[in-house]
Formats: sequence, structure tokens, C-alpha cells
Amino acid sequence: MKDSSPQTVYLSDYTPFGFVVERVELTFRLAPESTRVTSRIRFAPNPETTDRTFFLHGEELRLVSARIDGAEVTPDVTERGLTCAVPDAAFTWEAEVEIAPAKNTALEGLYMSNGMYCTQCEAEGFRKITYYPDRPDVMASFDVRIESDLPVMLSNGNPGAAGDGFAEWHDPWPKPAYLFALVAGELEARSDTFTTRSGTPVDLNLWVRPGDLPKTEWGLEALKKSMRWDEEVYGREYDLDVFNIVAVDDFNMGAMENKGLNIFNSSAVLASPDTSTDANFERIEAIIAHEYFHNWTGNRITCRDWFQLCLKEGLTVFRDSQFTADMRSAPVKRIGDVIDLRARQFPEDQGPLSHPVRPDSFQEINNFYTATVYEKGAEVIGMLKRLVGDDDYAKALDLYFERHDGQACTIEDWLTVFEDATGRDLSQFKRWYTQSGTPRLSVEERYEGSDYTLTFRQHTPTTPGQDEKAPQVLPIAVGLLSPNGDEVVPTTLLEMTEAEQSFTFPNMASRPVPSLLRGFSAPVVLEREASAEQRAFLLAHDTDPFCRWEAGRGLARAALMASVTEGAAPDVAYLDGLRQVVADPALDPAFRALMLQMPTQSELAQALAEAGTTPDPDAIFAAQEALMRAMAERWQDLLPDLAEQARVTQPYAPDAAQSGKRALGAAVLSLQTRLDGGTAARAQFDSADNMTLRLSALGCLVRADAADDALAAFEAAWSHDRLVMDKWFGIQIMLAPPAKAADRAAELTGHPAFEMTNPNRFRAVMGALASNHAGFHRADGAGYDLLAHWLGKLDAKNPQTAARMATAFQTWRRYDADRRARMQTALRTLRDRPGLSGDMSEMVGRLLG
Ligand code: ARG
Ligand code: ZN
Repeated sequence: MKDSSPQTVYLSDYTPFGFVVERVELTFRLAPESTRVTSRIRFAPNPETTDRTFFLHGEELRLVSARIDGAEVTPDVTERGLTCAVPDAAFTWEAEVEIAPAKNTALEGLYMSNGMYCTQCEAEGFRKITYYPDRPDVMASFDVRIESDLPVMLSNGNPGAAGDGFAEWHDPWPKPAYLFALVAGELEARSDTFTTRSGTPVDLNLWVRPGDLPKTEWGLEALKKSMRWDEEVYGREYDLDVFNIVAVDDFNMGAMENKGLNIFNSSAVLASPDTSTDANFERIEAIIAHEYFHNWTGNRITCRDWFQLCLKEGLTVFRDSQFTADMRSAPVKRIGDVIDLRARQFPEDQGPLSHPVRPDSFQEINNFYTATVYEKGAEVIGMLKRLVGDDDYAKALDLYFERHDGQACTIEDWLTVFEDATGRDLSQFKRWYTQSGTPRLSVEERYEGSDYTLTFRQHTPTTPGQDEKAPQVLPIAVGLLSPNGDEVVPTTLLEMTEAEQSFTFPNMASRPVPSLLRGFSAPVVLEREASAEQRAFLLAHDTDPFCRWEAGRGLARAALMASVTEGAAPDVAYLDGLRQVVADPALDPAFRALMLQMPTQSELAQALAEAGTTPDPDAIFAAQEALMRAMAERWQDLLPDLAEQARVTQPYAPDAAQSGKRALGAAVLSLQTRLDGGTAARAQFDSADNMTLRLSALGCLVRADAADDALAAFEAAWSHDRLVMDKWFGIQIMLAPPAKAADRAAELTGHPAFEMTNPNRFRAVMGALASNHAGFHRADGAGYDLLAHWLGKLDAKNPQTAARMATAFQTWRRYDADRRARMQTALRTLRDRPGLSGDMSEMVGRLLG
């Protein structure tokens, strides 16, 4: 195993490499079991350091030969790399190694997916390709030659000579090894051209396996939109003659921004109306944008070391969110992002895996591609932008690109750019990068004379390794409404820097109703004892779409918690208030669909735990079902009208307007199913002419436990399409009645199309189980045991994906003693497996604490 003795790396230990790399030449002779890689690398002493230790990373390589300046040498080789005596001056290193891509199930380095060769080098996969200083602060230009009899052979940069059995590529832009990529196979492309703002034509190709060409149109359109947007909004142009995207079926993550050769999980790029949902289309558009935007924020300016991962990821997620907001609806995107942050980042930040946006130590960096680094990292940039304002943000970004182009940078560099561009002192703001945990913000109101005062208190609970927390800078966007519903103070940004701080609004003729944390201006938990009346008032009158949605969400949460803890009947006042919003034809259907989305069961479990009640997953499920049923019954007269408003009459298009209508329609259908047991859903399933309608109907049928025929029909129709079959596997577990979820998942692992080495398929089954809250937490522990068992099996083949999915256990301490004990036992059994990977051992170790 790779990491028999996991080592912890510390940010504070950073030292530069003793050499600079002036040039890299690589030749690949491809063969599934025995690919030969020869490297010719020009090294020179690094003037920035006197340490001349020559260590090259290398793992799972068979060294065939090594030379320095043409003379054979015998390096000291270990499991992790090699060291060698080298000259005092510049020299040329040459090595030949052998690797076996066909045996690489970890999907890191050079591997094979359905007969094609492809690579994934971020973060530390290049060391599985050849010996190299595999660290992001070593940047070099690469020349690559690929030899094989495959028709398509691609690498980074611009194409060079090509002929029978070979192709050459030259990447003029110095880059770290993690951005290296190679693809070879029997591929076909959809092609187009894009002319940059300064008039340079760029060839665009989206490469797929034959047969997938009909699914490439959307991705290519998204690419062109992204290229234009980055020119218009950030002034960034593309910088090579060609931009290639390749879809691969076996991929650990969503996609990868390799210079000039982005590689995508096929689920993150292939789309057609018949096989993809509206949500798929939107996600694909966003991921294409994300990877494209990395060309500047990640590639041209990269990270000094992996502790700085958020430098590129937080910024690039922020940029792709801006892009989606511009392409679609900004409020809907914002609310969706907050839902996602609360569902994925908050539990992480409030449990055993909590870590700062910039971690200060790790064992396996792959375990830190987290919601905290990505999504909280993006929130931090959003706060910075709010604090300095749009103009200064633009100035700072211009300075960032100007000052740091071609460099490997740190968060300090980033913050200094903002300080220099705006004159602000950001030393306290920096805590957002170094302090882990979700700040809690409470608020008190006082109305005296005509002064209205808000007093805020902030406090961050302790997190692993951080007992002391200092106050953070919180941008709190506030608006005030008068009792008649008029906005008397428009959105104002309060800048909180102290543990406790008051802000007074003078001359208020009557006691206003505050609309707090507008647009979710800071990623905190707002602990607020708002009355149901205040929430209902905001639900009816708030001008800020986020706060309006939040008021409804707060009411739903309160109603559900009351029903769990006190057995309270569904709150009819809430249902009637919500009805006013949902029935309002003037409001965007997408927004109304979000209003209809209930807080997730996991979110309720967290809220209950915080309120001192041990969450009972079955009771939470029952409360949610009861509320949905009450809603359906109380709104019986409204549902047909809403369904009519949600009907799309034009030909299918995955745009914001149509998607919003279909989202509203799906929410209505799910209520309707509570009344008719699935008649309407079955009719929609049978008549659907696109995957969005088909799948939402199938989901309703699964929820109603009336899906057997529909599932069989779906399987018969789509067994030839892997991505569609992932949906089939997932939905019947995700939405299964809780008592059946684990058994269904277990049964599906025996399905002939279940392939554990395909991460999408594994996630479709095991990820779906983990997301069925009451199903995963079934009292007898069947869900825990099944997941732990399969994580153990997968760990032996693909540690990265297995370790990532172990995060399903991160909330284990929330639950009752019996469930806690069962989860602890499942985790310990996993931990004690012989040959456990370094990835998994770090993860389980942190989970168990
Ligand atoms: N940089 C990629 C992205 O954000 C993620 C790839 C990470 N891959 C990994 N194996 N850790 O788009
Ligand atoms: Zn990224």
C-alpha cells in the first residue's frame, strides 16, 4: 500500500525546492500493461535557497534507467521517490520508467477508462507517471510526444508534429505537474471556433467516445459562453490556439482544469434533453465554466503548496457562481448555494472533520477537496467583495492578475493585493482562512425614543485543534421594514468586528422589523428567536429574495421541530402564509419551487441536536411526511392551478425560465402524489418527453412505494446508457421508504450493471443510501454496516473515492447512544481492515477523533 506509514505535512514547514526546472520533455510509449515514459528534464540550482537536496517524487514506478548529463546513475529509490547526487551547476536528468495504466483502479496518474488512456494528476498524481518534483511551486514548460496506434492523442498546449503512430504537443506556459494531462483513444469531437476579444481564433473540441456526440452540444455552448463572460467580466482572454475537453466515464471528481486539455467526468459534461435533467444542464454549464475559469485562477496563477488550495478553488467557485447568476437568476442561484452550503459545509465545519479554509496540516491532500475549501472558500471571497465594494474588487483582481501572473502564490499574496488595491487592513479578515468552525451570530433589538438598535454577538464553538476563537469580520447586510411592510431602510452593510457590537438607526418613526443577513452576507448560523409573526411578516413583505425565502424556511423548520419534539400538528398559519407566496403568479416559478422545498431531514437533525434534543431520524421523516400531507390536503384546490402554471408548452430548453417551471411542477406533483398515491405521477412518467419530467415522476412513485413497474420500464428503456442508469440506481435508494433503503442498496450491489470501480456507479448506490437520512440511520444499523463494508472493499481499489464517501459518517455524534455505538463500531471495523489506505486511515482517524 502506498501510505503504509501516513505522514503529516505542515504548512509551517514549507521550503522551496532546491532547483528550478527549465524545461521538461516527456515521451510516452503507450501500452496497457507496460507504458514506457521517458523524461528529459533540465534542472538548475534555485537561487532562492541553498538546500540542494535532490529528491524527486515517484510512486508505483519501475525505474528502468536514469542518467545525469548523459552518464548512467543509480539513485536511491524508496516507495515515495528517489534521491541522487547531482552536479553543482545546471544539469539534464533523464529517466525511463514503466507503468501499467490498465491496472490503475485508483484513477490517479495515467489510467484507462473504457479502452482510452487518460490522466488525473491533481493533486499528487504526476508522481505515478514519472519521477519529478511533484509540487505546485515548480513550474516548467512541457514538450510531450505520445506514441501509439490510437487515432487521437492529446496533451497540453498547442499541437506540434503528428504522423503515423505519434503526436507531439508543446505547452508554452510554465505549469506545475498537477496540470499535466494526456489522453489517447478512439475518440470523436464536436468542434467549433471562438475568436477572442483581441481577434485570435481558438479551435474548440469536445472529445467523446463514438456514440456520445449527440450529447456534446450543450457543453460546447457553455464553453463559448464562459470564454466570453471571462473576457467581459474579468478581462481575461484565452491564451492557446486550441482548447480541448475530453469526457471520461471513470473519474474521481467532477472535472479537471489541465492546461488546454480539460478532462471531465462524463456526468459533468454530456447532456441531452432525453437523458439529462434541468439540474444536470445547469451543473454542466457551471462546471465547464469553473474549469475554464481556472485557466487564469489556478493555471496562470497557481498555488505555492496544497495548503493554498482555496486560493484557486474558492476564487474559481466564486467566479462560476457569478457566471451562473448572470446566465440565470441571481436570487435563485444564491438561495441554491446557501442550501448547498448548509447541507454540505455546515455539517463538515461543525463536526470532527472541521478544518480551516486554509488547512495547516494534512496527511492526504485528496481528503481536503472539501466543501470548506471550495464553498466556504467562495463565501470568503463574496464577503471580501461586499466589504470592499464592486469597484475595489475589480481593481484588486486586476492587480492580482498583473502582479502574480506566472507565479505560485499564497493566501498572504492574495490578501496583500486587496490591501494594496483598497488601503484596507485585512489582518482580522484573514481569520476566515485560518479559523475553522461556523460562527454563531445572535441578535437583540431595542427600540427607544426613535432609536432602533441592533446588538449582535458572535461566537464560534471550538473545533478539532482550535480551542480559542477570536472574533471575525462579519459583513451583515440589513434592511428595515416598517410595520405596514414598506422598506424604510434599504440594504445597509454593517461591518461587525467585535465579539459584541451595536448599531443604531436613528429617527425611526415606529419600531421596524429587521431583515437580517440579506443575501446571506456571511456564512454564519444566525441564532435568532424570531417570532412566527415576524417570520410570517417577512415571508409576506421582505424585498430581499434570500431573506424572504429564509423566513419561509425558518417557519417550516420551526413547525417540523415542534412536530418532532411536541407531536404538534402541522402549523396551518404557516401553510396559509406560504400559500400566498406559492400561489402568486407574479413570482418566478423557480423561486416558488424553492419556497416549497422543505428543510432536509439532516438539517432538522442538526437543528434538533443544537436545541438539545437527540434527533430521531424516524420521527423527523414522519414529521416531514405529515407536513407534506397536510400541505397537499389544505391546498387541494390550488394544486391543479399551480400545475397549470408550471406547464411548459414550448419545445424543451434547459433555460432558467423552463427549468423553474418544471421545478415548480415537480414540487406540485410530489404533493399531488400524497393525495392520489401516484396516478398523476404515473401519467407524467408515461407521457414525459424529457428526462426532467420523467425522473421527477419516477421519484414521486418511488417515494409512494409504487414504482416497481415504472422502474422496470425505465431500466428496459435505458440499460444502454450509463449516465441514465446511474439515475436509476440512485433514485430508488435515495427516495425509498426508509425501512427499505438499505436492503435495496444491498440488492442493487448484486445487479449485473453494478460496477464498484466506476465512481459514478458506486456513488449512485452508496451515496444515495447515505443521502436517505432515515434509511441510512435505520435503527438496526443495516445502513451503517452496508456502507462501511463497501467503503472497505472500495478502499482497496480506489482510496480517494472511498475516503471521500466516509464523510457520510461525519455527523455520527449527533444521534442516540445506540446509533452512535453502531456507527462507531462500523468505523472501527473499517479502520482495522488490513491494508487500509492512507487516505482512509486519515479520514477514519479524524472521524473517530
Ligand atoms: N481542480 C479540480 C476542480 O476543482 C478538482 C480536481 C481534484 N482532483 C482530485 N483528485 N483531488 O475542478
Ligand atoms: Zn476547481
